[in-house]
Amino acid sequence: MTQNIAPSPPPLFRLPPDRRPDVPVLFEGQTLLALKGETVASLLLRHVDAGAFRREERRGEARAPLCLMGVCFDCLVTIDGQDNQQACLIAVKPGMRIARQLTAGGAL
Ligand code: FES
Repeated sequence: MTQNIAPSPPPLFRLPPDRRPDVPVLFEGQTLLALKGETVASLLLRHVDAGAFRREERRGEARAPLCLMGVCFDCLVTIDGQDNQQACLIAVKPGMRIARQLTAGGAL
């Protein structure tokens, strides 16, 4: 009897930050260096005041990423001119232009 055995996936591991290539992105006119493979939310949480990520539409309250898995929508930012992008689900790319959405319902 022959068994089909799927090849094992590669082991999961995290490269230490000093071995991950830098990815330059533009955040509100300032160049930030992201780590290859990290999300926009991760980058901004490391570099930006987490209480000022965006403003919610009705009362204008400050919002910041909460779930980091695409459920709460509190991480919305503008990426390359497109509003309401979920920063926690989008990996950084070189040259990406990112802005917070600090006016109620829209970008800066
Ligand atoms: S942090 Fe909740 S959807 Fe992005």
